[in-house]
Amino acid sequence: MDSLQALREKYQAIQAMNLNLNMQRGQPSDADFDLSNPMLTVLTEEELVTPSGVALRNYPGGQTGLLEARELFATVLGVRPSEMIVGNNASLKLMSNTLMWALLRGLKHSDGPWVNQSPKMIVTVPGYDRHFSLLDALGFELISVAITPDGPDMDAVEKLAASDASVKGIMFVPTYSNPTGDTVSDETVKRLARMKTAAPDFTIFADDAYRVHHLDDEEQHDPLNLLRAAEEAGNPDRVYLFGSTSKITFAGAGIGFMACSEANVAYITKLTGFQSIGPNKIEQYRHVKFISQYPGGVEGLMSDHATLLRPKFDAVQEVLGRELGEDGRYATWTNPKGGYFVSLDTSCPVADRVVELAKGAGVALTPAGATYPHKNDPNNSNIRLSPSRPPVEEVAQAMEVVALCVKIATLEYDAPA
Ligand SMILES: Cc1ncc(COP(=O)(O)O)c(C=O)c1O
Repeated sequence: MDSLQALREKYQAIQAMNLNLNMQRGQPSDADFDLSNPMLTVLTEEELVTPSGVALRNYPGGQTGLLEARELFATVLGVRPSEMIVGNNASLKLMSNTLMWALLRGLKHSDGPWVNQSPKMIVTVPGYDRHFSLLDALGFELISVAITPDGPDMDAVEKLAASDASVKGIMFVPTYSNPTGDTVSDETVKRLARMKTAAPDFTIFADDAYRVHHLDDEEQHDPLNLLRAAEEAGNPDRVYLFGSTSKITFAGAGIGFMACSEANVAYITKLTGFQSIGPNKIEQYRHVKFISQYPGGVEGLMSDHATLLRPKFDAVQEVLGRELGEDGRYATWTNPKGGYFVSLDTSCPVADRVVELAKGAGVALTPAGATYPHKNDPNNSNIRLSPSRPPVEEVAQAMEVVALCVKIATLEYDAPA
């Protein structure tokens, strides 16, 4: 094992290299974006009316989005087209809009606006910082439960949901969760769908941002569909699913969509109809045309993304395995089968020190604590690694630095100066 002094010498040598690497951004790479460049010119003047007869350049078309877009994105979320609402550029916007209406008016089975009910929301940790900050900004009290390899810790969720009517729901990522890569098991889906809830309007906000983002081409076992499971359990209006093409076509310039029971579609679109005459149909139709013409459709496009992403995830595993070993002395980390992140847990409470050391060596990491509500990781151990954006050589180089920093921080902790 290296001595702290030897590791520090290595660190100084790296500092002298003046690196400028970034493992913080959960964004596609330019090579990923290039796959979708043909979308920029896919629409022609001859196609300004859709096959279903909607004029793309004018207002009429309704709140639920183009029929062709509902059909296409229904295949991503595994639901019926009639359960789809296809919106504008971001799923976060759809999530926040739904939450805002819930706060101001309540959802379908509410007995009043949530804002008057001291609303609480269950979130999974480690999790997605924007879920936490959005819910916090809206005034929800956040209750953390652990994410497990089967999804949310259901013993904890069932207890919370059953015991307190102000627990209004749960927000989590069902597939390849951010950052752990965990996917719900069939049993978790069934338990979420059928569990007893004190609140009559308990709502599952399932952010399926990585639903089709598999890293390998092996036959995938798709988890049970939450919307179908809720319908079968007699709670058809309990579930809202969200997704987008931010990591399929263009980030922030794609299409956000959501799915819920037809009754919820009617309830929500009545409200969103006050906010806008309808979504951007030209962007929706561009996506429909581009994705349906892509060889293999959505799956073909995602398989091409996987070809670009896989070597980067492999590089993370290779460097961490080689440098930190598999015995958990320094850290443990996930080896996801899809999604955008690797979640690393230091064995000692040194995540903030690792991030600080990495920064000092020219490697930007997601701030320690970001994967917990109020940026407070009680164990100071979790670090989200985002290998998608940099080229593979930079991912490998950055991971060498991260591994070195984990070792230094651990030895410093073991033997404080
Ligand atoms: C879990 C999750 N949901 C939503 C988003 C953002 O999606 P959108 O661009 O559709 O708002 C991200 C982006 O990192 C994410 O990781």
